[in-house]
Amino acid sequence: MTRELRPDPAREANDPYPIYPPNLWEPLRGRRFALAEDMYRALEIPREDKPARLRHVARNFEFFGAPVGLFFVIDRRLAHGQWAHLGMLIQTVALLLEERGLGCCMQEAWASFRPELATLLKLGSEEMVYCGMAVGHPDRSKPVNQFPRNRVGVDELAEFRGF
Ligand SMILES: Cc1cc2nc3c(=O)[nH]c(=O)nc-3n(C[C@H](O)[C@H](O)[C@H](O)COP(=O)(O)O)c2cc1C
Repeated sequence: MTRELRPDPAREANDPYPIYPPNLWEPLRGRRFALAEDMYRALEIPREDKPARLRHVARNFEFFGAPVGLFFVIDRRLAHGQWAHLGMLIQTVALLLEERGLGCCMQEAWASFRPELATLLKLGSEEMVYCGMAVGHPDRSKPVNQFPRNRVGVDELAEFRGF
């Protein structure tokens, strides 16, 4: 890949398989941005320092220095169900890595470069990269790997009926 690895918002707006729907609504939009703000705070990158933010995003495209990078490829003829099935498979890979003392970073950021990846990986015409995954030994002492995640509680996430 020769061109500078920087996601192109115009291209993403026309992606038939977007990572997020356009005009993401609340509370999802707010949660997404809050997590990003917390991460950049941990990285000590101020909001106005766009170049530094982009440099961090670009680290995705070297798998954050991990020794192994995986790409998860799906056949675009498959239906929504199979996207969910692929997600389960990816989660299983992540859990197995943890079990063996490794770690990973799931990376939907790679979706920004699906056409380039299809060429690079010589994918078939119906195949597309869903996401990537950096695999290695995470440096758990790094602030980016240990800042507190403001996760919603189960009562906000789920509704229990009949209990
Ligand atoms: C489906 C999915 C895609 C993700 N894509 C990215 C990504 O492209 N780049 C990145 O730095 N983190 C990405 N993340 C976040 C990291 O993988 C995250 O650190 C990891 O999921 C650990 O979860 P936690 O931060 O909630 O502990 C993604 C997470 C998920 C679940």
